[in-house]
Amino acid sequence: MYHLTLKSLYSFLIILFMSLSVESRHTNNWAVLVDTSRFWFNYRHVSNVLSIYRSVKRLGIPDSQIILMIADDMACNPRNPRPATVFNNANQNINVYGDDVEVDYRGYEVTVENFVRLLTGRLPAGTPRSKQLLTDEGSNILFYLTGHGGDGFLKFQDSEEVTSQELADAVEQMWQKRRYNEIFFIIDTCQASSMFDKFYSPNILAVASSLIGEDSLSHHVDPAIGVYIIDRYTYYALAFLEKVRPNSTRSMATFLAVCPKRVCLSTVGVRKDLFGRNTTDVPITDFFGAVRQVDLSPTHPLIEFDDSKIILTEEEQTFHQSYAYLPQFPQEIWS
Ligand SMILES: *[C@@H]1O[C@H](CO)[C@@H](O)[C@H](O)[C@H]1NC(C)=O
Ligand SMILES: *[C@@H]1O[C@H](CO)[C@@H](O)[C@H](O)[C@H]1NC(C)=O
Repeated sequence: MYHLTLKSLYSFLIILFMSLSVESRHTNNWAVLVDTSRFWFNYRHVSNVLSIYRSVKRLGIPDSQIILMIADDMACNPRNPRPATVFNNANQNINVYGDDVEVDYRGYEVTVENFVRLLTGRLPAGTPRSKQLLTDEGSNILFYLTGHGGDGFLKFQDSEEVTSQELADAVEQMWQKRRYNEIFFIIDTCQASSMFDKFYSPNILAVASSLIGEDSLSHHVDPAIGVYIIDRYTYYALAFLEKVRPNSTRSMATFLAVCPKRVCLSTVGVRKDLFGRNTTDVPITDFFGAVRQVDLSPTHPLIEFDDSKIILTEEEQTFHQSYAYLPQFPQEIWS
């Protein structure tokens, strides 16, 4: 009798252990979104980072758990013909600047030192809560970095750079200080995969817009603005994320497949060896969502995403489709 109980206890423990190794154990979600470049002709980098900001916020990560670093202010740039807006698309369907963007580090605050201090938690005493990454061992963190980079570095504001080794060491400090459970690292820059090559800490899944030796390319110019307004990788990532709802059961593997080479023109790089789980079993909402539900203010009207006025090249036409904003709060309450 005793023997039998022990045996069933064993199998119970084994089953429990197996299920634990598949399920995520995170208890909260954070996002660190960084645009490292300045100047008007880099409009697209602001639009890139705000596209991801829009998506994680829509999917449920509250502003208090998003660190947004933007080196230059395109919305209020005197050269912006449409003040207080940033569009990801020449057709102006999605104003990614929105009504409620909370920038945590702006202008000259976007430095390598502040970035590394933010990650490692070595901030000066008295740093406001909004400028701190208050994660713990239960946090899943989404990193998104964009700007100008090269083999092994990412430039910050044309004046300094963070190397892939410095980044990897900062992440290792985070691991040793129990500041994360899992990290999903996205980078959209030239030779982007060089920035995740040096990672050596556990539980990191990384994706990059291009491989070493490749440039990451911009998507299209808005003639009114006169510059490229979004990069290809992020454009297709946003197109994918706009169709994801907070109750989505899609897997991270589907996100890793966005922007195949025929539309990206660069090869998207993926690094999975440090990540403990099979990406086909990991719901996308483990990183692009929140464990807790949040209510957002009903500031975004429902808009049909109409791409029909954009002139697309032949290869882009495979992505020619419309999609819509989600209602962020039951609209009937307000009418
Ligand atoms: C998610 O919720 C929407 C309504 O809010 C519903 O139409 C859809 O079927 C749900 N999807 C899943 C996968 O449960
Ligand atoms: C991940 O899971 C899928 C489907 O369950 C399976 O086909 C694939 O081989 C797995 N990959 C690894 C690396 O285990």
